Amino acid sequence: MKCPQGLGELITQLERGAQLQRIVSRIDPCLEIAELTDRVCKGAASGRALFFENVVGSSFPVVTNIFGSVRRMEMALGVKRLDDFRLRLERDLGSMSANEAQGAMIELLGQKQYAPREEAKARWQELNRPCDFALLPALTCWPKEPGPYLNLGQVYSRDPQSGELNCGLYRIQVLSRASGAIRLNPGAGLLRHLETSRNLGRDLPVAVALGGPPACLLAACASLPTQVNELHFAAWLQGEPVEITPSPRHRLPVPSNAEIVLEGSISVTQSVTEGPFGNHSGFYREAGDCPLFRLEGFFHRQGALYPSTLVGPPPMENAYLGKALERIELARLRYDHPAILDLNMPLEGIYHRCALVRIDPEKTHSHSLLRLLLENGPLRGSRLIVLVAEEVNVQEPSTLFWSALNRCDPRRDFLLSGRSLGIDATGRGQLPEGAAAPLNKDPRTVRRIEKILISEGMLP
Ligand SMILES: Cc1cc2nc3c(=O)[nH]c(=O)nc-3n(C[C@H](O)[C@H](O)[C@H](O)COP(=O)(O)O)c2cc1C
Repeated sequence: MKCPQGLGELITQLERGAQLQRIVSRIDPCLEIAELTDRVCKGAASGRALFFENVVGSSFPVVTNIFGSVRRMEMALGVKRLDDFRLRLERDLGSMSANEAQGAMIELLGQKQYAPREEAKARWQELNRPCDFALLPALTCWPKEPGPYLNLGQVYSRDPQSGELNCGLYRIQVLSRASGAIRLNPGAGLLRHLETSRNLGRDLPVAVALGGPPACLLAACASLPTQVNELHFAAWLQGEPVEITPSPRHRLPVPSNAEIVLEGSISVTQSVTEGPFGNHSGFYREAGDCPLFRLEGFFHRQGALYPSTLVGPPPMENAYLGKALERIELARLRYDHPAILDLNMPLEGIYHRCALVRIDPEKTHSHSLLRLLLENGPLRGSRLIVLVAEEVNVQEPSTLFWSALNRCDPRRDFLLSGRSLGIDATGRGQLPEGAAAPLNKDPRTVRRIEKILISEGMLP
């Protein structure tokens, strides 16, 4: 399976696979698109991707929920199963010389074969529009939000001194025709670049790409070592280099297949109030100070689509982006801790909130491993990490819950680290002498019951 190179290609594939619903009714980007998308994320219209053809106040069609299922993530990234990424990354990291995952990732993705391929012309250069956010059908998602915002823009920037590239997914609240507020959470890569700019006393140029290869979007969401260039990671994901074209004003690399490209700069002196915005917790995240974003260029291809998402209580689209990243994290974790066998970050926990980890307790000291996971590496900062033994399937949370309740003693097995709780539910060494699972393993009985189940039509 080949990875689609742009949004249009992906939409065609989704439509062929009956994964997309077109909405012809006129619909408002203020609250209405979000309300309809929320219902679909919660099960209406079989949870399909949505294509709004007729949007109030804008000539751009809006697409939402494009990545809102495991199947669609697989289609967007050209794999049979998301776990194929884990298998491939484990293989690739295995041939690196570094003895920890972070170093091996830097070594692997620093290779020339993943460098982007520069092109002189791109389709997003077809139309050069006035710098006016109002042309875009940016969504207002929840009633108490102060106004519309862009939430699927990949923001490209370079460190003004080292030239290091960063690409992250950061929301931009529309404040006026040519100004916005850009939300940067602590630790965001762009903050480093902004810090250098502040020291130099000049604003930071950025380019925002909407659409383009889905691999670039996933790379923008991924938490990668600073030294890893997101475009290299996207090339690894899609199995071929990303085609890029420099943005006209700032010469920042943006995917040639983007639908819409905005250029701008981030002020190092002016901040503005951003929010409140609804988020995955089901609450509004309170308003706060954010850097000012100035819009300086607006380009798009003929017939461009405007991609957007909805952030709110799960199940939501962003959790499926998280599911793809979970497989990448698993490969990195297994490189450092071979006792780890599987990982599940349930949709309810989004991908950084809750991690269920299956381990082989014979290969490690489970309490020590739990402490390491709480304090270092990709799971650091998780609100909850639960370790279970190999016979427990972490992909079945109800079995895990049952097993954990039966095996752990909170006085002994709960570890608190900062604001994170770790639970060692492996129960290893703590089970009573001679304890054995009362499962029927007698082959004659098992075979006979299977025959009965088949003849009674009780097996699926
Ligand atoms: C839909 C969506 C919206 C996001 N919005 C923001 C945001 O506004 N600010 C932010 O700092 N991170 C946001 N994130 C998380 C970042 O994209 C993620 O942390 C990524 O690693 C940032 O890249 P960086 O490590 O290069 O900063 C969002 C993620 C998703 C999936």
